[in-house]
Amino acid sequence: MERDERGDREPLPRGWVRHPTERMLITPLVAGVGGLLAFFTVVAIVVWLPIHTFDPPASEDWAPLSNTALKGRNLFAQNGCYVCHSGYSRPQDVREALYFLYPKVSQPGDFYGSDQSPNLLGTERTGPDLSQESGWHPNDWQRAHFYDPRFMDPMSLMPDMKSLFSDKQVDELVMFVEERSGKSGLLRYAGQLYSKHVVLLNQGFPEAYKGFQGAHKPIVEANEKGLKPPSTQLEEAPNLSQIDRSYWLSGDPLPVTEQNLMRGKEVFLQRCVGCHGLKGNGKGPGASFLSPPPADFTSADDACCGGDTGPGDFYYRILRGWPGTAMENFGERLSVDDIWRVVLFLKTIPNGTLAHYRVPEPKDYIVWQPTKELKAWVKTHQQLANNADFDKRMAKDPYVQEAMRVFPGLAPGDSMRLNDGTTELSIRSAAAGIKALYMDMLNRAWADAKARGEKLPPETNKTAPPTVPGQQ
Ligand code: HEC
Ligand code: HEC
Repeated sequence: MERDERGDREPLPRGWVRHPTERMLITPLVAGVGGLLAFFTVVAIVVWLPIHTFDPPASEDWAPLSNTALKGRNLFAQNGCYVCHSGYSRPQDVREALYFLYPKVSQPGDFYGSDQSPNLLGTERTGPDLSQESGWHPNDWQRAHFYDPRFMDPMSLMPDMKSLFSDKQVDELVMFVEERSGKSGLLRYAGQLYSKHVVLLNQGFPEAYKGFQGAHKPIVEANEKGLKPPSTQLEEAPNLSQIDRSYWLSGDPLPVTEQNLMRGKEVFLQRCVGCHGLKGNGKGPGASFLSPPPADFTSADDACCGGDTGPGDFYYRILRGWPGTAMENFGERLSVDDIWRVVLFLKTIPNGTLAHYRVPEPKDYIVWQPTKELKAWVKTHQQLANNADFDKRMAKDPYVQEAMRVFPGLAPGDSMRLNDGTTELSIRSAAAGIKALYMDMLNRAWADAKARGEKLPPETNKTAPPTVPGQQ
């Protein structure tokens, strides 16, 4: 018998059919079980299956982590660093999200093996992507930055990591950051270590302090004794070898106006005081971690007449950084004009323009002139015309490429002595030193990984030479 919903049996208009009684076919139990089944099928396909079947071979650039770096990796995970820092770069990041000069797009095989996997891909980029961080800064920079990121960048929002300074943890974290970027990263780190060796030897500084320092150590001082260049060599020649020589004698293209100087002072106060100090004397709060310490800009003599303090030299250092020192590159963060403006301002500091409420004026600007020693040197030795960058034939050997990256002012034929009077500085000796450091670090990481029983790719992966991203 047919009934409608209300059970009424009203007469239907002619030709109409009564609606069948509705009945639930799926019970809540069936709906629940079915829903869960659908959910777990999706999870199995999207999560479980890839984790257990996606096993790409190690990429050409892959390198294992040393034991110390592996401990640092755990600290990186425990301290939530991945919340603000991603660990992989996509093609679009090469332009947007990285401030490294030689960016590299991550490959699946970069995360091979159990020490890199599950990889620390991270969730967002509040700070820069760190997959290519290795070798970008020296260890002393990293230590000072972990102690207080505001020492290096007064505008940084990264939390400080002072709690890691009570034992060796900070050094483990530094090793992870310096070793995580594969073979190309190790090569860059080797370039950084080699440059540090050259800078310290040349300027007569000891190694930077290690481990727990607080911020209370005195700033390291140079040992001036016995460190004089051979009399036939320009004193600043080794420093100049880290600046592309097309910049050596160039002037500042901007006029010395009050506006330009004011903007230069603003940039200096925003970006540079953590290291170079509020007085410009190189004694900022970060300085006690650094060797060599930051440059002192208060000497009028240096401003007018230094062998490597021309406006072009300053510009190049700020644009690209100074490998081997904590001086970092601002080329991705400051506009070209702002760099030239801060260069103008630096040359007013000896006249007290960093004082409170002091407006720097054009009369404070100290004009730089090349000394006759510098002019004689570029005529007879490191001639401007021999700038390696003018020669567009590219070096193919990765160790030579790295040597030319950290010593852009050296031409292949140049050879000079460091201020200890004996150590040679040339592209050849730098490439050999960088290669030795790179091989040593790679061999030790492989030996550590083997001893830990890690899954390793064939030995040929280790012996294949590294590449320099951006140079192939
Ligand atoms: C709240 C977000 C945040 C957290 C958490 C964080 N960082 Fe950062 N980090 C940043 C920002 C922003 C910067 C860029 C400014 C600066 O250099 O301090 C940065 C910069 C860095 C740099 C320098 C990059 C470069 O070459 O200039 C390193 C290395 C770094 N962080 C490592 C770490 C490590 C290791 C941890 C965990 C112990 C960590 N960060 C935790 C936000 C964060
Ligand atoms: C993280 C610390 C740090 C920060 C931040 C920093 N510097 Fe430096 N700077 C150094 C160190 C260290 C040196 C190397 C000094 C040496 O070896 O004599 C240096 C060297 C320089 C030199 C070369 C000086 C010379 O005599 O050749 C210039 C120019 C310079 N810095 C400008 C700046 C400017 C401008 C800023 C801000 C936009 C800045 N620095 C930010 C640490 C820093």
